[in-house]
Amino acid sequence: MSHQGSNDAGRRPHTEWFTESRFGLFVHFGLYSLAARHEWVMTHERRSVEDYECYADVFDPDLFDAGRIARAAKDAGMRYVVLTTKHHDGFALWRSTTSDYNAWTACGRDLVAEFVEAVRAEGLRVGFYHSLIDWHHPDFTVDFHHPRRDNPDARAANETKNMDRYRAYLHAQVTELLTTYGPIDYLFYDFTYAEERDGWQGKHPADWAADDLLALTRRLQPGIVVNDRLGIPADLVTPEQYQPDAPMRVDGEPVVWEACQTLNGSWGYDRDNTDYKTPDLLVRMLVDTVAKDGNLLLNIGPDGRGAISDRDERTLAAIGRWMRLHGRSVHAAGAVALHGPFEAPPGTVATQRGDRLYLHLLAWPFGHIHVKGLAGKVRYAQLLNDGSEIRRTQIPPDRVALTTEPGGQPPGTLTLTLPTVRPDVEVPVIELFLEPGA
Ligand code: GLC
Repeated sequence: MSHQGSNDAGRRPHTEWFTESRFGLFVHFGLYSLAARHEWVMTHERRSVEDYECYADVFDPDLFDAGRIARAAKDAGMRYVVLTTKHHDGFALWRSTTSDYNAWTACGRDLVAEFVEAVRAEGLRVGFYHSLIDWHHPDFTVDFHHPRRDNPDARAANETKNMDRYRAYLHAQVTELLTTYGPIDYLFYDFTYAEERDGWQGKHPADWAADDLLALTRRLQPGIVVNDRLGIPADLVTPEQYQPDAPMRVDGEPVVWEACQTLNGSWGYDRDNTDYKTPDLLVRMLVDTVAKDGNLLLNIGPDGRGAISDRDERTLAAIGRWMRLHGRSVHAAGAVALHGPFEAPPGTVATQRGDRLYLHLLAWPFGHIHVKGLAGKVRYAQLLNDGSEIRRTQIPPDRVALTTEPGGQPPGTLTLTLPTVRPDVEVPVIELFLEPGA
């Protein structure tokens, strides 16, 4: 439902812009983009800090164009963008005073500043991803994810590491990020793994002083939306690389959630990985998410020079063409909430926004589609891609199928008549205008 012009702004929960947005862009960029073989390359290949620093020596993202990224997001129908300020490898993309392992030292650019300015200029919300993990910091203890875990002296080395100092560093970085760039809308912390594995202790919320860090985040940026990966509950939950099969709940209560998804299985640029999702699959994933009251945060990994690959740009553009015509089945839409029973017909995904119901047709049947529970509740129907009317009827339950006429439908069923030719869009959508009180 659109809340424009409503006078309840003061009472709106601070996550409302987030859930209304429904679709955002994730951007993973860092030193791993140069290695071009997954953002976990440092630990996959057990690289030492000194060895991995070779990427900082040659870091020159001459094609990192925040304006282009922000425009690509906007054109794709996305409403917010989240950038990796620092990933697990510890390299900061901003001009940090907490350490010189950062983009400013490496190439004289504050990529976070460029990003924030460009994203705001497009009228989009600004999000920071920040890694709690840091494989570069000398005080961050070795654990089962750490690149040094197979070093014979790793356990002994942990004795001299001081997580208090690391925590202070982490909080100082977050303070810097949240006090230097104006209002920040979203913080995506990543991540907590409290389990024990191979004789190594994971990292607990206490390792980040999670309660303090969350309080600090909210104090410095009142109104900011924060995810759950500090290991303590915050504003939303974050299923990763899978689609939940129903609206997400915690302790039986519905929660705000956001699925984060890649284009090819890797977050960072991964040159030789061609496991790409098609625009058509991505649109289906988007509407599937919205139909379950979730958000989709879709990732791109710019390459070693900071450029969006041609392929990713084409994918975003294709999604954008679909969104230009169908955005109103996504933005501010959510799960169907009618009075009375409703069942999305097989092969369809349904969303609702106020008095409109949207049927996304994943398959294109011949002639008719029968929708149980909608008879008497729809005052108009049209294809959303071109606004062409879709005729509606109710076939009496007792009608016998004749040579040229379909037989009866269960009471309460609305029958829609489809054109033979499927509209040439990734997923065709029928927009149903509901009767008041439906
Ligand atoms: C993970 C991974 C990471 C990625 C992130 C995105 O937890 O460690 O590489 O940045 O999820 O959600």
